[in-house]
Amino acid sequence: MVVSRPPMGWNSWNTFGPEIDEQTVRSMADVMVSEGYLAAGYEYLVIDDCWALRERDANGRMVPNPEKFPSGMKAVADYVHSKGLKFGIYSCVGNYTCAGFPGSYEYEFIDAETFAEWGVDFLKLDYCYKPLSEPGARLYRRMALALDNCGRDILLSACSWGADETHKWIKTTGSSMWRSTGDVVDSWASVKNLYEIQRGIYEYNGALCFNDMDMLIVGMNGKGNVGVAGCTLEEYRTHFSIWSFFGSPLMMGSDIREADDDVKAILQNPAVIAVDQDPAFRQPYTVHGNPHVWARHMADGDIVLGIFNVDDNPMWVFVPFSELGIGRIAGRGFQMTDLWTGEDLGVKKEQFTLSVAPHASKLFRLKLARL
Ligand code: GAL
Repeated sequence: MVVSRPPMGWNSWNTFGPEIDEQTVRSMADVMVSEGYLAAGYEYLVIDDCWALRERDANGRMVPNPEKFPSGMKAVADYVHSKGLKFGIYSCVGNYTCAGFPGSYEYEFIDAETFAEWGVDFLKLDYCYKPLSEPGARLYRRMALALDNCGRDILLSACSWGADETHKWIKTTGSSMWRSTGDVVDSWASVKNLYEIQRGIYEYNGALCFNDMDMLIVGMNGKGNVGVAGCTLEEYRTHFSIWSFFGSPLMMGSDIREADDDVKAILQNPAVIAVDQDPAFRQPYTVHGNPHVWARHMADGDIVLGIFNVDDNPMWVFVPFSELGIGRIAGRGFQMTDLWTGEDLGVKKEQFTLSVAPHASKLFRLKLARL
């Protein structure tokens, strides 16, 4: 399946881990629609690991755990679809999933057919218990072949954590997104760590096969399956700024049934989501020797500046517009808008400076202006 923008949705793992069930999925589907998440672009509802029984049935098919999913997976998918959402599920290229449930190794075609029958639209495919003799590229290609021939459009979301130099081979496989980092946990240290990893591989991001920086922790507040220390609101905003600026898939992971207005304002900021989803999908670059001041040129001719202070001290930022394509006699400047506050900062010429607080970030949209 081919997708032209970074996929957006919600995934069960960060909050629920192994405790995911049908009732939770239904209530999450309800909230994704009633609280405006679908309208904001979050269309996939994905059940992660631990949905199946530990054994396949006599026909070799995976079986949803009847205690967690008494109506069966087709009924759950039907409910999700009835809300206008798309339905995702999880398996693994290896013999087992990371939590020890059946993996798809040597069952790729039967699993793809089963998922198609259930009405699955999205498959997250993990990397645990991979036979050493099998290269990861071969196994993701095998599942993509099965999915592309199963009679239903199913998006393949590879989850090999960047292992085995995933960036070098993932675009041969048919995956629409690939986990470019290890697992996120709900802490500032984790956000910073995943950003640092991304800085080494962002060049590999691109349309049709997106670098997935892992699920969002915005709003977890230290609770749930990967809840650790939690983050401040400012840190969650920086996390969302970074993921959006780099064009990562945006898969929410918090219990959005409990999201307050501040959390919703982060997850549903249309101007920031538009950066993530920009159709040109041009590669970002750093500005004027500061490794945390980034620019990305948008499809409509605007430039977005992403400034991420991941350090513990205030960061002084100087942005000369010559770095952004404005020559000395061009007679042009930029009208600047702060994408978090919506504030119009007016037209600036030649340069601008500002100070960014520790763990804070700025996203500015720059529109070319005549002086
Ligand atoms: C990890 C994966 C997580 C989650 C978990 C389930 O390998 O990176 O996102 O899916 O497995 O066991």
